[in-house]
Amino acid sequence: MSNKSKPNTGPPIIGVSKDMQRVRELIEHVADTGLNIVVFGESGVGKEVVAQNLYQQSPRSGKPFIKINCAALPEGLLESELFGYERGAFTGAEQKKKGKFQLAHSGVLLLDEIGDMSLPLQAKLLHVLQSGGEFSPLGSEKEVKSDTWVIAATNHDLKKDIDEGKFREDLYYRLNIIKIHVSPLRGRPEDIPPLIDFYIKEYTAMLQNRHIEKPSVKVIDQLCAYSWPGNVRELQNILKRILVLGDSSEVMNELFESERGTSNNKVTASIQGHHASLDGLLDLDGKNSPDNESFSLKNAKQEAVEMVEREIISHVLAKTDWNRSKASKILKISYKTLLYKISDLKIVPPQK
Ligand SMILES: Nc1ncnc2c1ncn2[C@@H]1O[C@H](COP(=O)(O)OP(=O)(O)OP(=O)(O)O)[C@@H](O)[C@H]1O
Ligand SMILES: [Mg+2]
Repeated sequence: MSNKSKPNTGPPIIGVSKDMQRVRELIEHVADTGLNIVVFGESGVGKEVVAQNLYQQSPRSGKPFIKINCAALPEGLLESELFGYERGAFTGAEQKKKGKFQLAHSGVLLLDEIGDMSLPLQAKLLHVLQSGGEFSPLGSEKEVKSDTWVIAATNHDLKKDIDEGKFREDLYYRLNIIKIHVSPLRGRPEDIPPLIDFYIKEYTAMLQNRHIEKPSVKVIDQLCAYSWPGNVRELQNILKRILVLGDSSEVMNELFESERGTSNNKVTASIQGHHASLDGLLDLDGKNSPDNESFSLKNAKQEAVEMVEREIISHVLAKTDWNRSKASKILKISYKTLLYKISDLKIVPPQK
C-alpha cells in the first residue's frame, strides 16, 4: 500500500480509493508552491490531516503550524485572536497579545471552517492577503508583517455561499488558488477496510493489556455498507466501542437503527396510501365497489416487495459508489441478477 507514512510527511492518509490517491498526489504536487489552498469536505473526512500533510511536506515544516477555528469564536474575539491586540485595545485587554497571523510567521496558518467567517472579517482577511501579510493589531497604529502560508478548510459549498451573499467572491478567488476536495467516506467504501486495519493496530497499541479481536468479515461488510454521516471520525468512534466492548452486535444495531428508521417511514407512508385508496373503494355501507380494479392484496404485496428491494439495492449501490460487482457481493445475489433488478426496478445512478 502506498499510504505508509514516510518520515516527516505528516500523519498517514489511509485509503486505496482513487479519490484518496488523487489527494495524496495533489499534496505532493502543491506542498512546495506556497499557493493558497482551500480544503473542501464534510465534517470528519480528514481536512486537517490534509492540511498537516501539506505543511509537513512543504519547506515550512518545522516552522509553526497554527490552527484557528473560525466557527468556534464570535466575530470580535476571532478578530482579536487572528490579528492580536495592544494593551487597552478593548475592555479586558490587560496585556498585549500576538495574533495567530503573527504566531504563524514563517509557517502555516490553517483557517478552519472559513465558511463561517463573518463578512466584515472576510473583508479584513482579504486586505491582509492582498497586502502581502500586512495588518495592524487591534488598538495599534503600527503595521506588522507576517509571512504566512494560509490554508483554509471548510465543509461549506463556498460557491453557494457566494450566491447567497454569505461569502465574498474576491476572497474566494484569492484563497482558492488550489482546491483539494476530500470526498465523504460513503463514496469510497473501499477505504473502510484499510482504515479499520490501521485503527485496530493503533488501538491495540493503546489498549495494551486488553485482548483485542478484529471485527469479523460480516461486521466489516456491514461497516462498508453504512453511510458514515460523521465520516472517518465516526468510524474511529464506532471501532473504539466495538473493540472495547468486545461485542459488536449492540453497536451495529444502534448504527443501523437510524437508517432503518428512514426506510420504515417510507413503508409506513405506502401502507397509509393503500389505506386511503381502500377507504375510497368502500362505499358508506361498507360494500366493495365491484368495478374498481386498482387494488388487490397481491398487487399491494408485490409493490411492497419491490419498494423494499429498490430501497435496499439503491442504498448499497450508493454506498459502493455504484460498484455493481461489490454491491452484488454485499447483497448476496449474482451480478446478473443485480443488473436485471436495476433495470426492472428502474434504479438510476445519481446525477453528478
Ligand atoms: N484518510 C485518513 N487516514 C487516516 N486518518 C484519517 C483519515 N481521514 C481522517 N482521519 C482521521 O479522522 C479524524 C478526523 O479527521 P480531521 O480532523 O482531519 O477531519 P476534518 O475534515 O478536519 O473534520 P472537521 O470538519 O470536523 O474539522 C482525525 O483523527 C484524523 O486523523
Ligand atoms: Mg477540521
